[in-house]
Amino acid sequence: MSLNNLKYYQPEFYKFSEDSLLLAEESSKLVKEIFPEDFSIKGLDLCSGCGVVGIETMVQLENVSFFHFLELQSLFEPFFQKNVFSFLSQYQRDKVKFFNANLDSFSGSSKMKYNLIISNPPYFKKGKNRLGSDKRRNLCRFFSELDFSNFLNFIYFTLDREGIVLFLGRDGEVYNDIKMFLEKKPKDFEIFKYKSFGITSLFMGRFLNK
Ligand SMILES: C[S@@+](CC[C@H](N)C(=O)[O-])C[C@H]1O[C@@H](n2cnc3c(N)ncnc32)[C@H](O)[C@@H]1O
Repeated sequence: MSLNNLKYYQPEFYKFSEDSLLLAEESSKLVKEIFPEDFSIKGLDLCSGCGVVGIETMVQLENVSFFHFLELQSLFEPFFQKNVFSFLSQYQRDKVKFFNANLDSFSGSSKMKYNLIISNPPYFKKGKNRLGSDKRRNLCRFFSELDFSNFLNFIYFTLDREGIVLFLGRDGEVYNDIKMFLEKKPKDFEIFKYKSFGITSLFMGRFLNK
């Protein structure tokens, strides 16, 4: 996959980087490795923006029951819809749904559980980094009102016990939140660094007792 080959529609204030593509590539590879061939994917692209991560993952997977996309900023939706139209077949498009919501108040389709959650979330910490002048761009980099522990809790309550979550982060920004989250939870969940792409890490999470 190369960025040059991808003609995704995106707003001018936020362009995705190669990390989003690597996340999609690793996720689909891992799904094929660890789930049986007939395992039916109930996917969620959390903090989906223009949809690149979920769409690129769907393109590489055969057994998708449905794929949901959750995004706070409604201005991403027209870009998302155009991308769905450009990159997915009609058969795949019928499995896709966009939810414009804050993850903290999202209850989805009647408290749905997902067996694949993938996310490139806003992982920078406000105290450690300076906010920019564009509010829309800041929302792509920092959680506003929420923090990373809300993101981790959402995953814990939304992931199916058989499922996996893969998300991006930088160690210095997210490590403490992950550590604190795991200390507070019953010992039934693990999150570990699966891979690094330069300064970005790919984390994987799953339940231990299925
Ligand atoms: C780093 S961007 C990633 C976008 C896309 N996944 C990609 O890889 O290009 C993070 C996204 O999270 C969205 N976001 C921020 N806070 C959110 C929240 N509380 N609930 C849902 N989405 C949120 C932002 O609007 C932004 O689109």
